[in-house]
Amino acid sequence: MKGYCIIIFACLLSPLGVVSELPIIEYKSIHHPVISKTGMVVSQREIASKVGAEILRKGGNAVDAAVATGLALAVVLPRAGNIGGGGFMLVYLKDLDKTIAIDYREKAPKAAYRDLFLDEKGNYDRKKAQFSLLSAGVPGTVAGLHLALIKYGTMSWEEVIEPAITLAKDGFPIPHDLANILASENYKKRLTSTAAGSKSFYKKGLKNYVAGEILIQKDLAWSLGQLKDFGPKAFYEGEIAKKIVQEMKKNGGLITLQDLKNYRPVEREPVKGTYRGYDIISMPPASSGGIHLIQMLNMLEQFPLKDLGFGSAKTIHLMAEVMKRAYSDRSKHLGDMDFYAVPFGLMNKDYASKLNEKISIDQVTPSKDINPGDPYPYESPDTTHFSVMDKYGNVVSNTYTLNFSYGSGIVIPGTGMLINNEMDDFSSKPGVPNGYGLLGSEANSIQGDKRPLSSMTPTIIFKDKNPYFVLGSPGGSRIITTVLQVALNVMEHDMNIAQAVNSPRMHHQWLPEVLMLEDGFSPDTIEILEDKGYQIYPSRTMGSVQAIVKEGDYFYGAADPRRPDSGAVAP
Ligand code: DON
Repeated sequence: MKGYCIIIFACLLSPLGVVSELPIIEYKSIHHPVISKTGMVVSQREIASKVGAEILRKGGNAVDAAVATGLALAVVLPRAGNIGGGGFMLVYLKDLDKTIAIDYREKAPKAAYRDLFLDEKGNYDRKKAQFSLLSAGVPGTVAGLHLALIKYGTMSWEEVIEPAITLAKDGFPIPHDLANILASENYKKRLTSTAAGSKSFYKKGLKNYVAGEILIQKDLAWSLGQLKDFGPKAFYEGEIAKKIVQEMKKNGGLITLQDLKNYRPVEREPVKGTYRGYDIISMPPASSGGIHLIQMLNMLEQFPLKDLGFGSAKTIHLMAEVMKRAYSDRSKHLGDMDFYAVPFGLMNKDYASKLNEKISIDQVTPSKDINPGDPYPYESPDTTHFSVMDKYGNVVSNTYTLNFSYGSGIVIPGTGMLINNEMDDFSSKPGVPNGYGLLGSEANSIQGDKRPLSSMTPTIIFKDKNPYFVLGSPGGSRIITTVLQVALNVMEHDMNIAQAVNSPRMHHQWLPEVLMLEDGFSPDTIEILEDKGYQIYPSRTMGSVQAIVKEGDYFYGAADPRRPDSGAVAP
């Protein structure tokens, strides 16, 4: 592992003056990944990583382990793990030497329309867009995970879903952060807005669970049991579908049985780029993540970031300038490519050079002076992430979500399932930001059957044509910049994977015109940036990266300490 450890077989003079011949391990970094030779699963809940690692131990491949982990997260990480949401999965298959992108993003119900979230006065109605049944897209997770398993896994659906059923039926000890968030005023109000939510997440009389108590989710166990017995049909046509549609009809949602029956995940060609000899493979639209990751890497490749140093004011400034341009382009050019001709020329290296011409190392470009560009024609071709690598050489990079933590906060009665509020990822009105402050335009307007634009960026990076690095993150609009920085920390700043994940992050998204900084940058650096004219916004933690690096025979896993109870687990 790059600069990770140097084993020095040295003679050591002990305090007693006796010469010892024990090897001394000298570490360059205080951050330590989990190391294994047999594979690795990294997710935002160690208990779910263990489920995946057990599948690998039994001889399953990365896809088997990823699907089992995803289903387990739906139980143990209710804020983001889900069956009522959607996401994106990259699968690298060693035998075919090929990466497949599975888009299982939610779709707008057929009856959705452009002004769905505008009130009589034409104003964006936040409550409708984020916390009502109208905010729900047709969920894709069940169909997406099933497709991945059937086509690229080796184990049966029944086998990989079983651990999730056990966790829902027998329960699991509630970690501190889950107990705290469920007890917090905001979330308690949201999650008890339905009797089904109160039943799922609170004790009798709406009493809070205390950390360490066991959370049993009977209704969710029933739903997972239906999925085990009848496969995705239970969700899209059978008993679960009926419950979803019944609730939609009763409380003003749009999803119909036909919408559910029509839902299909799509296999797409991933987007590809390069960075100083590394090959970058990431998610195409309906996510904006891959395109803008590659666009920003193309721009940054032209600056000597390594010499400027991690976390220096100059590096942060250049990154912010690049981010502003990418997010400005996103606001105009990105949407579901099945509905809108996304200009893939955004990933062209010459386009990056053209954008770079306007970047100065000394001057901050005000956001008002940055407008979406005209990309060149294309010449070549509370979310959670988990990463899996197996001993056979296969890799899975998966990000999925309900959108906000706990989605719309609405549990579909009888299912124990939180329903997403992904419709807010559409642009409801030009010039009006969504829940992540993101702007959009025609490309991402609401239309029936269309997928709302995402920022999710599951990514696999190749070195010498072999899978080297797998990563991704939650974080709404900050997902793309989070993945960018962790990738650069390894590729550019020579950090080991744990240090790369742990190091402080920054973010700029063009509008609002603020530079967000996590804790951990030096006051001197912040002062230089303020003097340059940046408005600094001290941010809470950004993202939660679950990553693995494979070097030689070893897998190095790092789970983000920004989320308690995340875990890298070896089989
Ligand atoms: O698809 C998207 O870009 C958003 N729905 C992701 C939301 C998210 O990451 C929330 N988690 N922190």
